[in-house]
Amino acid sequence: MNEPKRLLRLCYNRNPERFEPTFKSQQEAKYRFILERIGPPDSGLVLDLGSGINLFRHYSNWPTIGLDFADNLLLFSRSQDPDAPLVLADMDHLPFKDRSFSLIVGVTVIIDRTPIEVLGLLGEIRRVLKPAGSVILTILEKELTEELCDVIRRGPLNLSEEFPCENDRYFHLIHLE
Ligand SMILES: C[S@@+](CC[C@H](N)C(=O)[O-])C[C@H]1O[C@@H](n2cnc3c(N)ncnc32)[C@H](O)[C@@H]1O
Repeated sequence: MNEPKRLLRLCYNRNPERFEPTFKSQQEAKYRFILERIGPPDSGLVLDLGSGINLFRHYSNWPTIGLDFADNLLLFSRSQDPDAPLVLADMDHLPFKDRSFSLIVGVTVIIDRTPIEVLGLLGEIRRVLKPAGSVILTILEKELTEELCDVIRRGPLNLSEEFPCENDRYFHLIHLE
């Protein structure tokens, strides 16, 4: 893990409780917005990238694996929901077989990343996504450069929808073969 990523992880690992309640209410609006637009996958699992305090599983109640690199956030999530499937890993190196998930979400997880890093992440997401599967990414507007938008619009997945969502931009991508 490189130094900037290690420092980011250190930040997230400090005081998981600070995610509540300010952060939770801020994110809640984004989750509501997303869940109004997509239904649960017909079959198969959902992967929540950078699951934080596991709000996606909490709001959706869909069969979701939460993945995060911050162990304290996973421990906090486990204390709130002992049955939650949680994985400690770096989302740039997903510990899953190809074509494992029908839906992958990443809400406000692309922070401080270069377009090249985002391109690498999109490739990894595509690898573990089933054909015809969907990806929902939200990215803070303040993080979005033209180059980053370009990578998302023309990257390895097909852009289906894009619009503002609270203080993020919402991207719905699909895996067409
Ligand atoms: C702003 S929080 C959002 C959390 C959650 N998605 C939500 O909306 O409540 C960003 C999350 O991404 C995680 N994260 C950032 N980079 C990561 C990486 N490379 N691998 C795994 N998790 C990462 C952080 O630990 C943190 O939990």
